[in-house]
Formats: sequence, structure tokens, C-alpha cells
Amino acid sequence: MVRTMQQRNELIALALTARKNAYAKYSNYAVGAALLADSGKVYTGVNVENASYPLSMCAERTAIFKAVSEGERAFQAIAIASDNGGSPCGGCRQVLSEFGLDIQVITVDRDGRIILDTRVEDLLPSAFKPSDLQ
Ligand code: THU
Repeated sequence: MVRTMQQRNELIALALTARKNAYAKYSNYAVGAALLADSGKVYTGVNVENASYPLSMCAERTAIFKAVSEGERAFQAIAIASDNGGSPCGGCRQVLSEFGLDIQVITVDRDGRIILDTRVEDLLPSAFKPSDLQ
């Protein structure tokens, strides 16, 4: 969870700014994400599409993979900005769940209006978890 309204607003602002770098030339649906790690650092991501459509990557997973590749393993919250504040896709829910069902998920529209403020667990009930492999 974000700790304060200010922290939430900062995360949202970073997602909106990141969204400007989205590479969404096929769908024209630009998405930006800002992921707050326990370390306090924020990692941003955008969707990166490809002429071979299925190879496209969502903004949320870009942010998560950037963070994990920098050594992060625990996260507080993710803000996701899109035109209409769309919900994260199923694949991104699963990837988020790998790192915690408690991660706060905030979606905002193009103007920063909050559309959804929830947790991974609510978006992905009965998730298949790392502990299922033990
Ligand atoms: N997209 C995301 O970046 N995140 C989501 O959770 C939903 C979809 C992207 C993928 C694709 O580039 C575009 O939005 C349209 O599906």
C-alpha cells in the first residue's frame, strides 16, 4: 500500500508521464505504469507493441521486469495509466501475484482520475502461487 495520499499522487503522476513513452502504434492504446518497490524506488514501464502483434508487452510487466532485473523482489503498489483506466490484463495479474497478493493496484484514466483502487488478491482470487509448487 502507498503510505500517504501524496505518495499515491506521485505514483499516479509518474504513470501518466511514463505513458507518453508508450510504443502503441498498432492499438493506439497507450499504457504507463509506475511500480513502487519496498526499497522506496519507483520503476516505470510502458506497453511496447510489435509488428508481430503477440510479441507485444504490457506496461505493468515492463515495470515489474525492470524492477526485478535491478534486484527488487517486494512491492507496495502499482499505478497504471491508460485512456480509460482499464484494468490490468490476466497475464499481468498473474505476474504481479508472484510478488505479493497485497500489492495495491491503482488504475487512472488519461486525466489521472482514479478508476480502480484495489489489491492483486481482489483482481486474482485463488491465484496459482509460488507456494503451490512446494
Ligand atoms: N495493455 C497493457 O499495457 N496493460 C494491460 O494490462 C492491458 C493491455 C496494452 C497491451 C497492448 O499494447 C494494448 O494495451 C492494447 O491491448
